[in-house]
Amino acid sequence: MNPSSFLILIPFFPEQASSFALEVDLFYLFLFALTGFFTVLIGAAALYFLIKYRRRSQGEIPEQIEGHLKLELTWTIIPFLISMFIFAWGAKIYYQMYTAPADALEIFVTGKQWMWRAQHPDGQREINELHVPLGRRVKLTMTSEDVIHSYFIPAFRTKTDVVPGRYTMSWFTPAKTGTYHLFCAEYCGTQHSGMIGKVVVMEYPDYQAWLRGVPREKSPAEAGAQFFTSLACNNCHLDGKAGRGPALQGLFGTDVKLANGSTVKADETYLRESILNPGAKIVGGYANDMPTFQGLVTEEQVAMIIQYIKSIGPKQGEATAPAPKPAAAAPSSAAPVAPAAQPTERPASERPAKPGAP
Ligand code: CUA
Repeated sequence: MNPSSFLILIPFFPEQASSFALEVDLFYLFLFALTGFFTVLIGAAALYFLIKYRRRSQGEIPEQIEGHLKLELTWTIIPFLISMFIFAWGAKIYYQMYTAPADALEIFVTGKQWMWRAQHPDGQREINELHVPLGRRVKLTMTSEDVIHSYFIPAFRTKTDVVPGRYTMSWFTPAKTGTYHLFCAEYCGTQHSGMIGKVVVMEYPDYQAWLRGVPREKSPAEAGAQFFTSLACNNCHLDGKAGRGPALQGLFGTDVKLANGSTVKADETYLRESILNPGAKIVGGYANDMPTFQGLVTEEQVAMIIQYIKSIGPKQGEATAPAPKPAAAAPSSAAPVAPAAQPTERPASERPAKPGAP
C-alpha cells in the first residue's frame, strides 16, 4: 500500500493527485488532531473542576489565589512553541507552493465571467478544462478579464486568486492520472457556481497525443510577435537597438534602470504595466512617448506579447545569473521581429546581447 494513500481512507478528503497533497493533508490532520486534543482536554478539565469545586453551601466564599508563576509560564510557553511549530510548517508549505520551479511547463489561464480559458505553450487552447501531464511540473500564470476569481483544484490542494490587473501564479506536479474537479472559489456573480470544469491528468505520451489532437494555433509567442507588428510596436521598439523606445531583445528578467533612478525587474507584471500604463515606469533616457494600449488589447493578447518579449530575452530563472558569455556579437542582420520558431528553447548562444542601457 502506498504510504500516502492511507488518508484516502478518510472519506471526506478529496483524492491526493498532486505532489503537494500529502503534506497539506498531514498538516491539516495535525491541526485537526491538535484542536481535538485541546478541545477534549479543556472540556474534560472544565467538567471536572465544575464538579470538584462546586458550591457546597449557600454563602460559601472561595479561597483567593494570588497566582502561580510556574503554571502561568507553562500555559504560555507550551502554546507558544506549538504555534511556532505550526507557523514554521505552514510557512514551509507556503514557500514551496508559491515558488515555482524555473523549468515548469507554463500554461496561461484567463478567468472571465463565467469560464476558464487555458492556453498551452504551443498554442493549444481549451475552455473549462485543463489537460496536464503526469509527473511534470506545471506552472499556471493567471489573470482575469473582469472580476476576482479563484482557481481551485481540490485534488491538487491548490487554490489561487485570479485577479484583474495582475498576474498570479500557481504550480503543481500532478501525481496521479484521472479527472478531477476544477472550481471557481471566489464569488464572482450570478453564474459563479457554474464556473467549473475538469482537470485531466494524463501520462506524458497521452498528453502529447492530446496536444497533437487539438487544432494547433500559433504559439503565444508567435501570436505575440504578430501583434507586436500589427500594433506597430516595432516602429519604436526597434530590433536589437535603441529607437524611440528601448530595445526589447534580451530584456526579460533583467533589471531595468528607470528615469527616476530606481530599478525594476523586467518580469511579466512590469511588462504588462508598461503596455497598459506606459507612463508608470519610464526607462532612463526615454521620454514618456508611448500611448496606452488599455482597452485596445485583451488580457490574452497582452500575455501573448509578453510571451513574445520573453522569447527574445533570457529564459526565466537564468536572469539572475550573469551570462558567462562575454561581449556577444551585436544582433545586426537578423530579420526584424522574426517570430521565434522555438520560443522557449533558444540556446544561450543564440540570445542577443543585453540591450545597451542608455
Ligand atoms: Cu469565477 Cu466565481
